[in-house]
Amino acid sequence: ARTGIGRAHAKSILLGEHAVVYGAPAIAVPLHALDLTVRVSERADEQLHLRSALFTGFAADAPQRLHPLVTAIHAALALTTSAPLGLDVEIDSAIPFERGLGSSAAVAAGIARAIGDLTETPLDPEAVHDVVMAAETIAHGRSSGLDGRAVASDVPIRFRAGEVTPVPVGAPLTFVLADSGHEGSTAEAVGAVRELRETFPSRVDGVIGRLGAIVEESLDRFATGDVPALGALMDEAHGLLTELEVSDATLDRLVGAAREAGAAGAKLTGGGRGGCVLALAPDAARAAHLETMLRDAGATRTWQTTVETA
Ligand code: MEV
Repeated sequence: ARTGIGRAHAKSILLGEHAVVYGAPAIAVPLHALDLTVRVSERADEQLHLRSALFTGFAADAPQRLHPLVTAIHAALALTTSAPLGLDVEIDSAIPFERGLGSSAAVAAGIARAIGDLTETPLDPEAVHDVVMAAETIAHGRSSGLDGRAVASDVPIRFRAGEVTPVPVGAPLTFVLADSGHEGSTAEAVGAVRELRETFPSRVDGVIGRLGAIVEESLDRFATGDVPALGALMDEAHGLLTELEVSDATLDRLVGAAREAGAAGAKLTGGGRGGCVLALAPDAARAAHLETMLRDAGATRTWQTTVETA
C-alpha cells in the first residue's frame, strides 16, 4: 500500500493579529520546536480512518474538530490524479490546540503534504495553501490567510492582504511563549472584534490603523536587531489588543509578570481570549529566568524560540 508523510510547524504572531483581518500588515514567525507529523496510508476498502490525540478529552465537540480535517483531506485528494480508495490518517501533533499557535492550519498543511507524498504528486506551496484555506474557513470562518502562510514558512514573514515577504532580522531575537492554559477560539475572538467594529467603527478603525503602523515601524527594528524598541512596540500592541477586547485577566497577568521579570516587551499572540502570551527576552541568557517567572505567574507551559534570518 502506498504511504505518505507530511510535516508542518506552529507559528506565533509577533505583531498585527486581528488588524490583519481588515487588510493591515502583520508579522509572524515559525515555531520549529512545536511541530506535527501526518502519516497517511492507502486502504483497499472505501473507508477513512482518522487517528489523532486532537480529539482526546473533546468527545463533545469532536464533530466540530473533525469537520476542518475532513475538509482538508477532501480538498487535498481532489488535487491529486491518483487518489486512493480509502485512507488511514494518523496525526501526531506537539502543537497545543486552540492556543493561537496555528494548530488548525498546521494540521491541514500536514495533511496536504502527506497526501501529495502518498500519490507521488507533491502539492506545490500554492496548492497546499488552497487546502489550508479550505480547512481554515471551516475552522475559523473568515480568516486573513496569515496562519496558513506562517505555518508553511521557515522564516519570519510580513503578510498583508495575501502577500508574503520575508522579514530580515539583524540579530537573533529570543522570545518566550507562555500558555495561559485556557483555550481561545479564534473564530469567536474574530467575531467579537467584528461586532465591536460595527458598534464603534471609527474607534476600532483607529486601533486597527495604529496596529498596522506598528508593524511597519517594527521592520527597521528587526533589521537592526533593536530589542528595546521592538519590546516597546509589543507593549503598545498589547494595549491596543486590549482595546479590541481580545485580552483577558489571565493574559494581562502573564504580560505583567513578563515585564516585571525584565522582558523587553510582552503581548498576547494570536486570536486571544485565552491562548498564549509572547515575551521578548532582553537577551538569550535571560530567557530561562523569564520562563520560570511566567510559570510562577500561572503559565501552564512555556517555550523558548529564537528568531533569525535563515
Ligand atoms: C489568528 O492566529 C490571527 C487572527 O488575526 C485571525 C486571522 O488572521 O485570520 C486573529
